[in-house]
Amino acid sequence: MSVGKIFLVGAGPGDPELLTLKAIRAIARADVVVYDRLVSERILETIAEGVTQINVGKQADFHPVPQAEINQMLIRLGRAGRTVVRLKGGDPFIFGRGCEEAAELEAAGIPCEVIPGITAAQGCSASARIPLTHRGLASGVRYVTGHRKSNEPLDLDWASLADPDTTLVVYMGLSNIDEIVAQLIAHGLSASTPALAVCQGTTEQERRICARLATLPVMAREASFSGPVLFIIGRVAGLALERSGHDDATTVAISVVA
Ligand SMILES: C[S@@+](CC[C@H](N)C(=O)[O-])C[C@H]1O[C@@H](n2cnc3c(N)ncnc32)[C@H](O)[C@@H]1O
Repeated sequence: MSVGKIFLVGAGPGDPELLTLKAIRAIARADVVVYDRLVSERILETIAEGVTQINVGKQADFHPVPQAEINQMLIRLGRAGRTVVRLKGGDPFIFGRGCEEAAELEAAGIPCEVIPGITAAQGCSASARIPLTHRGLASGVRYVTGHRKSNEPLDLDWASLADPDTTLVVYMGLSNIDEIVAQLIAHGLSASTPALAVCQGTTEQERRICARLATLPVMAREASFSGPVLFIIGRVAGLALERSGHDDATTVAISVVA
């Protein structure tokens, strides 16, 4: 039997219209789709009937399938001659462990193609209508993870992140937002720096809050977000504050997107 092929595909942040043409074509020719927790329902609805769908984001006991098992599953499917789409939220190479899967497949001799996706930072900034870089406001952008293993402290270079001239985008930061904000302020970023939190960006359930850095943790808690949350911190977020009419306030503007 000839070996199959694995497409490592970025599903984008949620809106199915943000899938690339390449992603749509790969999904259409797949006979198996292995997908993560953050792949939206509406994207899963684009998968044709009869295609085997495997959810590795959640098992019956609500624990995700361990990464090593996912790697082995992909290798097994490839060896069985299947055409597989490994579908990941956003872009597979941005906090998506896509590179680890690609390396395992390569080592096993299974052909693998990577199809990039729109990462959450891009989707969320576009739906909030703020740029990530902007002449005079932000000369660069940094993506960091706000997630840490069990009780370990966050391993981030706070001094370099507390830079008023660049935009800071924090993925997976909701549960550590108090520490993130405290560290940024302690390392010199102004407490009044504009900040935005976006939950379920680009989907029909999207919610956003605009705040100042110092008020971000309490506002994010009060918002009781459910679903993935991304923080965009920096002067560019001030454009959203301006539009909300709260640009001189230290409090929040909550906008619910229907
Ligand atoms: C494991 S990372 C995966 C990132 C993904 N590979 C990407 O490129 O967007 C998961 C985090 O991405 C962010 N995220 C993903 N989709 C999002 C969305 N639609 N709205 C807000 N944040 C999102 C959240 O911070 C979430 O905790």
